[in-house]
Formats: sequence, C-alpha cells, structure tokens
Amino acid sequence: MCGIVGYVGNKPASGILLDALEKLEYRGYDSAGIAFAGRDGIKVYKTCGRIKQLREIIAEESKSDSSRDGEFTVGIGHTRWATHGRPSDNNAHPHCAHSGKVAVVHNGIIENYLELRAFLEAHGHTFSSDTDSEVVSELIDYYYSGDPVSAVRRAEMQLKGSYALGILFSDYPWQIMAIRKDGPLIVGLGKDENMIASDIPALLKHTRDIFRLGERELAILTKDGVTVMDSYGERIQHEFEHIDWDIDAAEKCGYPHFMIKEIMEQPDAIMKTIGPRIHDGKIDLGLKHISEEDLKGITSIKIVGCGSAYHVGMVEKYYMRHLLGIPVDAELASEFRYDSPIIDEHTLVIIISQSGETLDTLYGLREARKRGARVISIVNVVASSIANESEDVLYTWAGPEISVATTKAYSTQLVLIQLLSLHMAYIKGTIDEKQLSASVDELMAIPKMLSDMLKKVEPIQYLASQYFNSQDVFFIGRNMDYSLSLEASLKLKEISYIHSEAYAAGELKHGSISLIEDGTLVIALCTYRPLLEKMVSNIKEVKARGAKVIAVINHDDDETENVADHVIRLPECGTLSLPSLTIVPLQLFAYYIASLKGCDIDKPRNLAKSVTVE
Ligand code: AGP
Repeated sequence: MCGIVGYVGNKPASGILLDALEKLEYRGYDSAGIAFAGRDGIKVYKTCGRIKQLREIIAEESKSDSSRDGEFTVGIGHTRWATHGRPSDNNAHPHCAHSGKVAVVHNGIIENYLELRAFLEAHGHTFSSDTDSEVVSELIDYYYSGDPVSAVRRAEMQLKGSYALGILFSDYPWQIMAIRKDGPLIVGLGKDENMIASDIPALLKHTRDIFRLGERELAILTKDGVTVMDSYGERIQHEFEHIDWDIDAAEKCGYPHFMIKEIMEQPDAIMKTIGPRIHDGKIDLGLKHISEEDLKGITSIKIVGCGSAYHVGMVEKYYMRHLLGIPVDAELASEFRYDSPIIDEHTLVIIISQSGETLDTLYGLREARKRGARVISIVNVVASSIANESEDVLYTWAGPEISVATTKAYSTQLVLIQLLSLHMAYIKGTIDEKQLSASVDELMAIPKMLSDMLKKVEPIQYLASQYFNSQDVFFIGRNMDYSLSLEASLKLKEISYIHSEAYAAGELKHGSISLIEDGTLVIALCTYRPLLEKMVSNIKEVKARGAKVIAVINHDDDETENVADHVIRLPECGTLSLPSLTIVPLQLFAYYIASLKGCDIDKPRNLAKSVTVE
C-alpha cells in the first residue's frame, strides 16, 4: 500500500520528508514524490523509482537555485504502490491540480473515480495521469473558492472507497491538511512542528507522541498546533499516545514478524480485493479485453502457477468444475510450459502469481498465449511482467507482501478466483441471480469471520507448543481438503524447516502409511462433508500406528472429535468460505511452530520472495 508523510514546522522540510519516506520503504513502492508549499506556490518533485532518485532530483534543483534553500518548511510526501495506473512519473504522487492551488497525496482506492473524472472533465478539468488519486486533487480544486475546509469536506463527501489524504493549498502555505476513511493516518505532535504519516516509523525520528486520526476526521496542522474536526465541523480533542516501540518493531506495527502482521491483515486485504468488485450483489470484474461473450464460449480452464499460487488453483478447480460443468485443471507452471498443453481459443488459462515475476509462470503464460488460449492473470504487483503480458489482469489489492511465505496474497487470490468462477457461472447461466447474490454475500462475510477467528489464536499457540519438536508432519485430506493440505504443508516446511508432506488421505495406504510411527503428527483436514466418514477411517488408520492427530473440523462435527487427539473447530460457514477459513489456523500453526523454533520467519533460508530463475 502507499505511504503518506507531511511536515509543517521551522526546519527545512525536504530532508525530513525524504527521511520519513525512507522509513516507509518496507511497505513496498514503485514511485515517490514530495510537494512543498512556498512563497511562489506549490512545488512538486516526483519520480517513478526509488526515494534515492527523488533525493537526487531535489538536490540537483536546490544546487541550481540556492535562493530557495531553507524556504520550504511545509510539505507532503508519498511512496506509491500502484493500484490504478502503471508505475510512471505522471502517475506518481503528489498530484497537483492544474490550477496549481491544491496538491494531494493519497493512500487507498477511490472506487467512483471514473464517474468523478467524467464530471470534472465536463467542467473543464484536465488530467495528466490515469490514477484515481489525481481525481481527488481536481475535485478539491473544483470546490475551492478560498475556504480549504469547505473544499476538502465537500470533495470528500463525493468520494466512495478508501482514502487517507495529505493536502496542501498554495494560498495557505503555512499548513497541511489531512483526512481519512478506511486508510490509516497518524498525527505526530512535536515542538514547533507537527507531522502526518501513514505509519509510525515515519514519525519516530521527530516525535513519539502521536494520535490516530478518526474516521472522516479532518485535521489542520500548523507549526503551532493541530486542529481536528469531525464530519459535522465540530472540534475534536484527541488524547495522544506515547510510542515506545523501536523503529524495527514499528515497521511491523508492533508485530514481531511481517508474516504474522500479514496473516492479521487478511480480513482487510480480502475486503479490499472483493469489495470494489461487488455492487448490489452483482460482480463487476472490470475485464477490458475478454468479453462476457468470450467467457460464455469457454469450454475448458487451466489454472497455472507455482507454489502457493498453484495451490490456489488446486482448491478452486473443484469448485469451478462443479459450477461451470466444464473441465478445469490446476497445472504447475514449471510442468505446464513443457507439457505441450492441449489448449485452443476456447480454453481460458488463469495465471496466478503474487509477484507477477515468477519465471516459470511467465513462460507458462507465454506458452498459453502462443497456443491461442484466452489468458486472465491474478496478480498482486501492478504492471509486473505477468500482468503486462496477460490479455486481462485481475489485481489482488492485498498491498505489498513482505514475508517470503505468502499468506494474504494467497487468501486474496483464493477469493478473487472464486469471484471469477461465480461471474462465469452467472454468465453461462449455471447459477441464477438469487444463487449469485447468496454466494456473493457469503464471500463478503469472510473478512468478519476471519477477524473473529484471528482474535482467538491461543488454542493454535497451544498446539504449536505441543508439537514444535516434531521431525515429520503429515497433512491429509480429500478433495478440497487435500488441496488445502498442500498449502498448509508448504507453510510449515518453508518457515520451520520441519519435514512435512501433504497426502490425499485415500492414498496413504498405498505406501506412505509405512512412515507413520509412534508420535508422528498427522493433521487431518475434515471439512469436506461428502467424504467425512472416509476421513474418520483414515484417522483411525494412522492412530492405530501411533500417530497423534489434529483434525480441522466443521462447526457441527461431533464425530471426528471422538477419534482425533485435538480438533481445530471452524465457525459455521458455507462451502464457499470454507477454504478461506480452513487455511488461516494452519498458517498460524506453522507460524507459531517456527517462532518457537526461533527460525528466521520472514526470510527463510534458501528462499526468495520472487523466484525469477528457472
Ligand atoms: C509461498 O509461501 C512461497 N513463498 C512460494 O511457493 C510462492 O508461492 C511461489 O514462488 C510463487 O510465487 P508468485 O506467487 O510470486 O508467482
């Protein structure tokens, strides 16, 4: 996600803002920029690239015009994580209205930006970027006639979506303004200086006294103080909190690792990914090149990816087949690309990749296109190679994923491909409007259910404490539970270095059961109801050979509890939400085991976040 900073005080703002932006680099970004309010109006510096480049650009300019040294003591800055509009100088923030009177930095997604842009263009406003954020600067400018509070509030009332905004007015060069809805914005209180930032690390060099701006509150910061108003214009007094975190902990928002932070972010990431694509119970994926007619004519589907991305396909293939009544297969990209796949123009290939740079997956994409398939990619990094080479791309809006072991990207890929399945089923007529609406409601209920689950991690911590010395762990399941076992096993392996295998439960007796001995840990996923009896038998089989069994069970399953040693009971939910709810306790199990083993959880040995080699 993007990062916002702002400074108002007596010191030169340039170095302060650049240093503050560097403290937000961990969030991931592709562009950076700063706007200053000075005696001659607003001055903007921005670039597609790193903060280092931005620093050089500003230094170059001040070398050539030393008369401005020390002039700028008020400014706003931004690191951009592209969601709408590829990384480019023009799309970088800050965005300054063409009148030169208003500059804005934005973190979030304006869902109705296209209609606002059309309205503003009809009123003579022009645009130099294809971002949703530039619409905000022009909209504030549209309403501005000398009163910044009124202009910001009137513009903000038109916005749909999530936003944290830092705002400069050229007529008010002694202040910065801030307003937020859904996106975080923190105010830092200093002596003769005040700041705003998306996250605490950006402030700690200047102040540890902060408060979090409330929903739709408007803050006006000058060097002498901070005024906050609610959406009715009433003044609000915030108590400040004193931060005693160190910088490193602060980058993880107080979490010990990025992985646990990203596990906890999953409800928000899922909502950000599906929320903007659902309107009045209907799905709007915003596909640009593959039409509804094209989707209607699809006769087979291949879901292609590596690692966890492949595991998403393994889960979804069952559901897609059932929904669409056509062949759906999940393929390992490293196999698919050499497999001479039988595909044609009626084949839809869905490429899944968090980084959008995995080389095997990129080659799988090229192979699919070479053979005439229609290609949609599900990617987390905007304008990445896979996104650029796809016919259509659906972005997961999970924000940057720092931990090598994927969690929130996996979860958002899962719900997004489910949305695609439902959209195709409705187009093909295999589900009606009522079924669509019910399924969409079920998906939209996942974030809250996950949030509730993530508030009760102690039982998982206890299980991890019982089994973190295991040498071998087996995950077993049938149908979708087998696919989820693949992901659960990979999570455990890659961060705790414990040997683990995922097995189709019915396959154990064909050889691998010989590995089960006294104390072997077996984690049985038992959520797939049609085969529950079979799973109970499999649990008895491994128990008879000395295994310890943790069973993941449905909310109303009382039978499995009698045969397993421990159970992880899921909340009541529908079939559609089961995968999203099942995987999270198993992510946590892997995390707490690795934590107890003292492993380097965010950067496991031998692994890279993006595998750009073959
Ligand atoms: C997931 O925890 C692993 N780090 C790895 O399997 C990853 O899913 C795989 O390398 C694919 O990466 P991608 O999604 O960026 O293409």
